[in-house]
Amino acid sequence: MKRRDFIGLVGVGSAVPLAIVACTPAKENAAVSPPNSDGFQTVGTLSDLETNGKILIENEPTKVLVVRDPANPSSLIAVNPTCTHTGCTINWQKDQSTFICPCHASQFAADGKVLQGPANKPLAAYQVKVEGNSVLVKAG
Ligand code: FES
Repeated sequence: MKRRDFIGLVGVGSAVPLAIVACTPAKENAAVSPPNSDGFQTVGTLSDLETNGKILIENEPTKVLVVRDPANPSSLIAVNPTCTHTGCTINWQKDQSTFICPCHASQFAADGKVLQGPANKPLAAYQVKVEGNSVLVKAG
């Protein structure tokens, strides 16, 4: 196609509206609070957990995945969701009670221990507690 044909086709100089793509800032998770004096910070609510089956926070520096403990559903488990192999974000497979990495299929137990490589280090586990409807984690 010659340049003149292309210009005629797209109507440069005509009233063809141009799409303007707005730059959207990275989405912040409004539910995450700064750490309290005891080191715990709010990462979400029990409502979030029940609705989504998990709370996943990927914002730096806080990276945390909270799920119900399959061995004791009244308790919660919090881990760093960064796979210890090369850093992909793991997923929680509730029906298998296992964290699975989508990149190279490493599997981790609910407590973060490696069940299947190639990862050879456990996920970092964090302290987690509930206050009212808030889920709080002490990361790091
Ligand atoms: Fe998770 Fe490779 S990054 S298995």
